[in-house]
Amino acid sequence: MANSSPEDRESRLIIVIDGPAGAGKSTVASRLASRLEIPYLDTGAMYRAVGLLAIRDGLEPPLDEGASNRVVDLMNRHRIEVEAADGGTTILVDGRDVGEDIRTPECSLMASAVSALAEVRKALVPLQRELGLQNGGVMEGRDIGTVVFPDADLKVFLTASVDERARRRHVDLSERNLETSLEEVREQQQQRDLQDTSRAESPLQVARGSVVVDTTGLTLDEVVERLFEEVVRIR
Ligand code: DC
Repeated sequence: MANSSPEDRESRLIIVIDGPAGAGKSTVASRLASRLEIPYLDTGAMYRAVGLLAIRDGLEPPLDEGASNRVVDLMNRHRIEVEAADGGTTILVDGRDVGEDIRTPECSLMASAVSALAEVRKALVPLQRELGLQNGGVMEGRDIGTVVFPDADLKVFLTASVDERARRRHVDLSERNLETSLEEVREQQQQRDLQDTSRAESPLQVARGSVVVDTTGLTLDEVVERLFEEVVRIR
């Protein structure tokens, strides 16, 4: 068998980053992917797209198990497409880019609610595996190191204090002209954390063998640098 080139080996590299909302995962994952010139896959965007469909269909959180069939039916009737590139993840619903629509606080809560439904995860996890296996990449979410790619080349768990995470999310929302108070952001984030860590299906946990980085007080560039060093070490 011919030796694979460094580019081939690099393109198959799978790096996973899990952690709670506001820990800096998206920024860190996309910057690291750009630096390594490998795809960046934001798996949360996929749950957000399903959340958007649920909102448009008139559903409201909390969802009971009875909502599951309705949500699965929505997933079957609509086309969700994901494209992972090193610059970012593009997500289309029925051919339309919903990148902005899925970033509202309302959609954050609904994404968290639909992500607790076993049938939703059963549909999205194989898709995430397929996307990762195609070209490798930096994959970010809640269960990537525990469920989707437990044998990833590098597993990272990013965290930060509740205050820091709320502050970051608040700045992020303000920059997109989605004005809410810091207190409201903090409350919603805590609600989402509780849902994401206490659900029966693939709750957010630190995957075995993860590098745990507390990003409180660090700039996101410092975090990228730290992870880049980890990648150099394992390559
Ligand atoms: O990463 P995010 O905030 O965009 O994710 C939105 C929601 O999707 C999050 O509250 C939980 C869910 N999610 C998940 O359950 N598993 C993933 N791999 C990614 C996100």
